[in-house]
Order: sequence, then C-alpha cells, then structure tokens
Amino acid sequence: MTLRLGLVGAGGMGMRHAHGYIELRKQFDSFGMAAICDLHEPAAAAVANEIEQATGERPQVYTSLDRMLDEAKLDALDIVTDTRMHHGFAIAAFEHGVNVLTEKPMGVTIKACQVMRQAALKYKKIISVAENYRRDPMNRLTKALIDAGAIGEPHFYERIGLSGGSDLMHNTGWRALKSRAGSMIIEQGVHDADLMNYFMGDIESVYAETAIFTKTRRRAPMSGALTKFYSHRVEDQFAGERTVEIDQEDSAFAVLRFASGAIGHFAMSNASHGHTVSVDTIHGSTGTLLPPPSRSGKSPVIKLEGREQPISEADMLSLVPDWELDDITAPFWDGARRLASYEMPFADVDRKLIAIEYQELYQAITTKMPVEVGPEMGMKALGFAYATLESGFTRQPVRMADILEGTVEGYQREVNAANGL
Ligand SMILES: NC(=O)c1ccc[n+]([C@@H]2O[C@H](COP(=O)([O-])OP(=O)(O)OC[C@H]3O[C@@H](n4cnc5c(N)ncnc54)[C@H](O)[C@@H]3O)[C@@H](O)[C@H]2O)c1
Repeated sequence: MTLRLGLVGAGGMGMRHAHGYIELRKQFDSFGMAAICDLHEPAAAAVANEIEQATGERPQVYTSLDRMLDEAKLDALDIVTDTRMHHGFAIAAFEHGVNVLTEKPMGVTIKACQVMRQAALKYKKIISVAENYRRDPMNRLTKALIDAGAIGEPHFYERIGLSGGSDLMHNTGWRALKSRAGSMIIEQGVHDADLMNYFMGDIESVYAETAIFTKTRRRAPMSGALTKFYSHRVEDQFAGERTVEIDQEDSAFAVLRFASGAIGHFAMSNASHGHTVSVDTIHGSTGTLLPPPSRSGKSPVIKLEGREQPISEADMLSLVPDWELDDITAPFWDGARRLASYEMPFADVDRKLIAIEYQELYQAITTKMPVEVGPEMGMKALGFAYATLESGFTRQPVRMADILEGTVEGYQREVNAANGL
C-alpha cells in the first residue's frame, strides 16, 4: 500500500529530502510524494520539478500548510522548515490524523519538544526525528564495535568541531537569530549529541563556557558540497543585506559526564577564522576508536595498546561476527550486509540516509514498530546542545534531567516567548 507523503519547507534541506525521496522510490514503493509546501511558491515549485523529472509524478504545490493538510489527504508530513515552525506544524499534522517526520533539531526549545510529544500521544501519531548521521553504515559499525568491547570499557570521548569564520552559516538568515534557531551550537551540536548518546549512552551532567565571538557575519554565497541544494531557496529574513548581526552564541566548550561514568569533552565553534579542526576519538581501557566523519564512507580506526598499526578492516569485522546492516539500510548499499568502508560521493550517501528515514517511518506506520529516533531520543540530543547553552548562561554545571524536565531554561526563555511557548 502506497502512503501519501507531504513535505513542508522547500529550502536547502527540503531539496535534499526530495533527493532522498527519489532514492527511496528506486528501492521501495512505500510513499508517494503528494504535495510540497513552502511560503515561497518558486522554492516549492523547484522541489516539485526535481521530483517530477525523476519520477514522472508531480506533487501538488502549496504555499499554506493549513491548505495542504485540508486538501492533500496525507498519511505523513515531512517537516523541513526552519526550526521554529517544527512544533506548530507537527501539532497541526497530528490534528489532521497525519504522522510526522521532522528534521533535527526536533523543536526550537525543550518546551517546543514537550508540546510536540504530548500532542503525538494525545492523537496517537508518530514523531520520527530525521537524525541522519547515526544511520550511516560506518556509524552502525562503530556502535557495534564499541558494544562488542573492541576498545575495552569506554572511558572518555573527545569531540572538537571548530569551523565557520566570518560568514553566516549556510547563508540562511534564520540561522542568525536566537528566536528562529536557538543557537548555531544547536544546528550542528544536535548531530554530535545524538552520536554521543548513540555510542556512549545517556549524558548525565554538563559544564560549559559559551560566547559570541563573531557577531557581524558576511552574507557570502555558499561554497562546498551543499551549494547546489540551496541555489533555488528564497531568503526572506535578510534579502539584500550584505552583513547580519547574530544574536546568539557561536562557541561552546563543555565537559560532560555520561551515566556510565565515562567523561567527555565537547568543543564547538562556528567562529574559527582561518583554520578548521575536527576531532572525534573514543578512548577505552584497551584502545582508542576514531569514528569516521559521517557520510565519508571511511572506516572507523581502532588503535590498540601495544600494536603499532591500526587493526585491519577484516579484523575489525571479525570482532563483530553478528553485526549486519538492517533490512531497510542494506538495499541502499547494493544488498551488502557487512562492510567496513565504502566509496560513494557525499550527495549519494546523503540521499540514501534520508531515504532510510522515510522507509523507517513507513514501516512504523504500517507495522507499529517504534522508530529509532523518537521524541525521547530527539529531546536528548537537543537537551545536550541546550545544556551547554544553559550552563554557559548560568556559569554553573547543569544536570541533563533538569534540562529535559524544563526546570533549567533561563537561556531558552526568550526563545520560548518569541515563539508563543
Ligand atoms: N539533518 C541535516 O543534516 C540537516 C542539514 C541542514 C538543515 N537541517 C535542518 O533542516 C531544516 C531546514 O533547514 P534549511 O537549511 O533547509 O533551511 P532553509 O532556510 O534553506 O529552508 C527552510 C524553508 O522553510 C520555508 N518555510 C519557513 N516557514 C514556512 C512556513 N510557515 N510555511 C512554509 N514554508 C516555510 C522557507 O521558506 C524555506 O524555504 C532546519 O530545521 C535545519 O536544522 C538538517
């Protein structure tokens, strides 16, 4: 049975989701993209064109979500707007009996996530959070290796991501504003937090120092692998401006404690001028594991104490004899069940991971199997990103439980007020 899917938010990530949908259709006839909505008709039309060219079927174009929900008879809504709309649009979908896949971060604040979760429970509908990084086969292998004790007991985790500089992230106006994005730390930080949770388990407490170092940002055209996805988008916040002032933290340096007793260090900045740093290492009682960059296809690296060379890919696979890719993921890797690396352009991996998110939602709707990243998991990732900001705000350590319950929310208060929460 083919279910009817709608997509709202036809910007850069919306175009990537269109490619994910096109990829899905190569393997599964689960969803049909019935409708695309964006405030800006040309953006929605560009995404509809892309789908029509690839599949021969043109989704109906809308500029109002309410109208789309009233008319399009959807089974599922894919929310890919900027973050402040996620909770309101999810609730509108549930009220129409529609299930939801929402881009990360799940909501603009923890309170936004709480109202989404309550509404999903009330209307008995699914929320799946589109957390793509963990679905990369190399992150699946990394997780299996850690669980199999490949580096002994994990003791500490190092994550450093220092990039950005003078330009506005993705040249998207909303990312400049606390009321629309929460913080730049959240944009990338939720991905890192989700991987930390996935590899190491729950985070218990966080202490961070945060700051805004580069307030004035250039609106420079994008460069790099994502550029082609953003060329059709319409800028509504700062069109015509050559610079913008950001009003939220661009740097957070934190130490954290996992519930397992392991400790972690997380350093993130979007204000690193002239030099980029990316470090991911997990140090255990017998060795160190270096997870590869998500979507690179590179193998994890394991260095064991007393051995000069990292262990080979074949030895790595022999450490996890029962590990294999699941029935949704394997078809997108030509049916391979076990692999320790792969070669594929970024755009191809990217679309496959999004296709997997769609197919998992279909499976959840049709078989009632729970989704992997539901509201609790989505909130844990956002909760860690906000824990750094809340700790930086008070200059005190914070407990994750207080962040997730909403009892510590001083930094978020302004964002909640701006969004009627
Ligand atoms: N998972 C990932 O790797 C990843 C990567 C990039 C972005 N994202 C997430 O995807 C979301 C979108 O980011 P983006 O970079 O595509 O931003 P974007 O600005 O390019 O796209 C957002 C789109 O939403 C539309 N929109 C806003 N309000 C709307 C409304 N009321 N009705 C209809 N359309 C509306 C805008 O017009 C715009 O076209 C964000 O939540 C972001 O965090 C995820």
